[in-house]
Amino acid sequence: MTNTSIKPVKPVAMVTGASAGLGLVIATVFHQRGYRVMLVGRDNDRLRAAGNSISDDNDAVMWCMGDVTRPDDCAAIRDALTNSWGRLDVLVNCVGASDRGLTMELDANRLRELIDANVISTLVCTQAMQPLLGESGGAIVNIGSLAGKVGARYLGGYNAAKHALSGLTQQMRLELRDQGIHVGLVSPGPIRRADAGQRYSERTGGALPASAAAPGGGTNFKGLDPERVADAVFKVATQRLPDLVLPGYMRLLITIGNGIPKLGDWLLLKFTKGK
Ligand SMILES: NC(=O)c1ccc[n+]([C@@H]2O[C@H](COP(=O)([O-])OP(=O)(O)OC[C@H]3O[C@@H](n4cnc5c(N)ncnc54)[C@H](OP(=O)(O)O)[C@@H]3O)[C@@H](O)[C@H]2O)c1
Repeated sequence: MTNTSIKPVKPVAMVTGASAGLGLVIATVFHQRGYRVMLVGRDNDRLRAAGNSISDDNDAVMWCMGDVTRPDDCAAIRDALTNSWGRLDVLVNCVGASDRGLTMELDANRLRELIDANVISTLVCTQAMQPLLGESGGAIVNIGSLAGKVGARYLGGYNAAKHALSGLTQQMRLELRDQGIHVGLVSPGPIRRADAGQRYSERTGGALPASAAAPGGGTNFKGLDPERVADAVFKVATQRLPDLVLPGYMRLLITIGNGIPKLGDWLLLKFTKGK
């Protein structure tokens, strides 16, 4: 008699933009909950440090360098994943970039950069991973923002880029469901981090109040705990939820703004500090 022990196959999650910030926290949470995780970013040293901060077991955590706005890089990342773990169950498109500024001063090239970082990255990476996700009947979670659901002052081209991402996500969900692939969106407000408030300080001044450098462009929010956001991402992937907003009460403001735009604008102006 032979004693064959069959090892259960662990599910695999890929997180783009996982060498820092929210992406690293999301990758950590998926690892803690039994997933193998693949980290993606453009800098190998940052990726190595991030990967090692999660685990030194290279059968549990891997990283792959690439710019996810480039189709060739995404194809190479998919091939590396196929050769090592042979499957993909969850793709988290977390790469993104925020902004500060006034729309009347927004340079068209700056808006193109923001659309590249927030929208093209998601489109191109998802297109590359679609065959693997189709095989597993997997899930995609796109990281949006409250700025992709409602307006806010002083966020430069970020609102436009994240609104485009919200639209792209719903369209993907409608199209990919027949292939058994779920697509969800998580739209968080400002997230707590050590360098919050310092990342955009050089963009304020002139017509922009100093408070615009603060998270959310100076909205009256307490920063969200990143682990809470990562937990929401996990839920959207595993419970196949379509659309989650954090904090949840903001869903009411979004609904009011869609139904009664005048009232929505008034409330939004109240949420943001002016000059
Ligand atoms: N921070 C917040 O308060 C907040 C609030 C709501 C939503 N969000 C959203 O959450 C996501 C993460 O934000 P974050 O502030 O945590 O980000 P972050 O700290 O700026 O980190 C961005 C990550 O993406 C990587 N990256 C950037 N461009 C890339 C590209 N083209 N290809 C591959 N990797 C790339 C960066 O590494 P390399 O530069 O080394 O490649 C880094 O790992 C974004 O989509 C953001 O819009 C953030």
